[in-house]
Amino acid sequence: MKIKLISFFLLLLLSLQSSGKEGMWIPYLLGQLNQSEMEAMGLEITAEDIYSVNQSSLKDAIVHFNEGCTAEIISSQGLLLTNHHCGYSQIQRHSTVEQDYLKDGFWAKSNAEELTNPGLTAAIVKYMEDVTNLVLAEATDKMSPSERERLVRDNIRKLLDERGESSEYDLSIVPFYYGDQYILIAKETFKDVRLVGAPPSSIGKFGADTDNWMWPRHTGDFSVFRIYAGADNKPAEVAEANVPYKPNYHLKVNISGVADNDFSMIFGFPGRTQEYLPSNEMENIIEVYDPARIAIRAKLLKILDRKMRQSDATRIQYASKYAGISNAWKKWIGEIKGIKETNGVERRRQLEEQFLAALNSKPELRQQYSDVLDELKKLYEDRKPVMLERYHYIEIGYYGIEIMRHMLGYRGLVEAYRNEEEEEMKNLATRLANGLDNFYKDYDIDLDRQAMQELLPVYLEAMSEEGLPEQLKELKKMEDEDRREYIDELYEDLIVLEDPVEFREMLMEKPGKAAKKLGKSEAFQLSSAMYGHFLEVLNPRASAMEDKIDHYQREYISAMRKVFPLKRFYPDANSTLRVAYGKVEPYEPRDAVFYDTQTYLDGVIAKYIPGDYEFDLPEKLIDLYENQDYGPYAEDGKMPVCYIASNHTTGGNSGSPALNSRGELVGLNFDRVWEGTMSDINYDISRCRNIMVDIRYVLFIIDKFADSKYLVDEMDIVYNPVVEKDRGMKEANTKF
Ligand code: ARG
Ligand code: GLU
Repeated sequence: MKIKLISFFLLLLLSLQSSGKEGMWIPYLLGQLNQSEMEAMGLEITAEDIYSVNQSSLKDAIVHFNEGCTAEIISSQGLLLTNHHCGYSQIQRHSTVEQDYLKDGFWAKSNAEELTNPGLTAAIVKYMEDVTNLVLAEATDKMSPSERERLVRDNIRKLLDERGESSEYDLSIVPFYYGDQYILIAKETFKDVRLVGAPPSSIGKFGADTDNWMWPRHTGDFSVFRIYAGADNKPAEVAEANVPYKPNYHLKVNISGVADNDFSMIFGFPGRTQEYLPSNEMENIIEVYDPARIAIRAKLLKILDRKMRQSDATRIQYASKYAGISNAWKKWIGEIKGIKETNGVERRRQLEEQFLAALNSKPELRQQYSDVLDELKKLYEDRKPVMLERYHYIEIGYYGIEIMRHMLGYRGLVEAYRNEEEEEMKNLATRLANGLDNFYKDYDIDLDRQAMQELLPVYLEAMSEEGLPEQLKELKKMEDEDRREYIDELYEDLIVLEDPVEFREMLMEKPGKAAKKLGKSEAFQLSSAMYGHFLEVLNPRASAMEDKIDHYQREYISAMRKVFPLKRFYPDANSTLRVAYGKVEPYEPRDAVFYDTQTYLDGVIAKYIPGDYEFDLPEKLIDLYENQDYGPYAEDGKMPVCYIASNHTTGGNSGSPALNSRGELVGLNFDRVWEGTMSDINYDISRCRNIMVDIRYVLFIIDKFADSKYLVDEMDIVYNPVVEKDRGMKEANTKF
């Protein structure tokens, strides 16, 4: 009996212990939590080399790029590497019809030719500090979730005020584990970040939407920037006089390549994950929320695609919007597929049973946590209807129907007019007038009307009557025919589009008149009604539950940590600096199919479709291929392009450095494989892989394709060919 019990717990432990590759870890805790495992997996440097506040360390080279992506410093002159899709809007902003950097690429030939980007930021973490005790100083178990929320908010404000006074850095305090822990983060934010180079989209975005989220991949998804600082090496506003930033540390670049089973580490700013959901909410995601959002986007993409195929102008106008809409759409489809094929929900249920069994065997914990899981599940069920309504607003009222989103921009102006705030009105009107070109340039009214015809009924159908504004109730009741007419009329009366020149003039010269007309227009009123309903009815309805959800999520994780003391729990991603480690390794996407780890230029050429908007290639790249003119970057006569590893990553990790066992740069993270996009809610080692551009391809493009060897000369290049034994491992791993 006893033996049985012991083996039961042993088994339990094994089944709970993740592969060791799952997780996005807090850098300053690596020494305590991860170092020995990382060493066992091949790491040759110490936790202190990765993150230190006392000496220079890898972390000094890791940059939060414009708060959405990651980038890394690769020279003593502040040279910065990130993805092409992360620098996309900067590259686009510098492009004109005559000088199309998106299409043809851009390469500064000297520092003087680097292009400034006002508004673009590059932030480096200076230190992180656990301030949980200060933030939760007066918190008690007796407090209600909303009381605790209030206390936390006040304490954070106080603490930031106190610390802020004496700090030269940007401070923030961020909750981890749903508020079980609070960490203060100090960052130095640079504001002069210049564009140094970008390959043409036919390299940087090769394969575009068809290949997005897919392996095998052949995209050279990189662009190059440089951080500038004031004469004191501190952040400064954009200015001619600024000089290249001298970092505390810059990454060495290793061009020896990777082999299967190599240690692989990603250091960056993952955005958001939900790894500790109960089984029913995971099921809601794949059975209810994802399908609803996918269906809406599918309708929209179909309308866009039809029109983009008919007209070149529309194709160019909508390329970036299409990419944005299809990116999440495709990811969600992969997420459902992945969870289903790996029985994710059922396995989460089993984990819950194990949790409850273990909890029941510990009387001192049972008392405190017995109802946590049930309550949490119930709250997610209660939130489901309103959540679904919110998603319908977001997908349709915000992303789907452009004119509804555009009208939101005038809310401030109309309000200023109604409150008779002359000054405010003038300022807003000027700003809006200046932004109009950007809107007109990429707007197709015909396409948007079709979108509203298809999507507005879906939105109305999804909204419950309770709390719905009168105007929307009436639209909901209308006969289809009448509603179609109503929509057609709405687009006929769009004052923004009637006469763009006149409208702009009106905004500049008679902002009151413009505001009055706008305020009365059907488009503005509909948009306001939808948004107002979202903000004032749906959000409050949800947020009453969300404070409680946070409370029970926190309790649930904290109970799991106590019930399974041997298992390590990493906090969900929250746009803070994290380390993920795994290995370069292949996977099997489905029965009888094996995906190898590395792609080559041969594969790029094989996908080449002359003139195609996704798979065209520049002449020069084909020439280099035909002459095998690869410089020192080739491997056995072949040019490596991308590779995969088992690092746990998510959105925001784009542009993150992929580091080898010595902390040297070997790749640039930019995507995940489709079968594994479920890793945002359930990482599974059998199929979750991240995708890197091989650093050798990056250097080859910079040096050979763009003739910018001077940039490579700026870097510290390391070469140490991998020993034969390791390459042998690669043979052994393949099934051929
Ligand atoms: N899937 C990558 C990410 O989530 C790349 C997106 C950019 N590329 C595109 N074709 N939309 O950001
Ligand atoms: N492309 C994503 C990004 O922009 C990274 C891919 C992912 O979600 O893992 O951050």
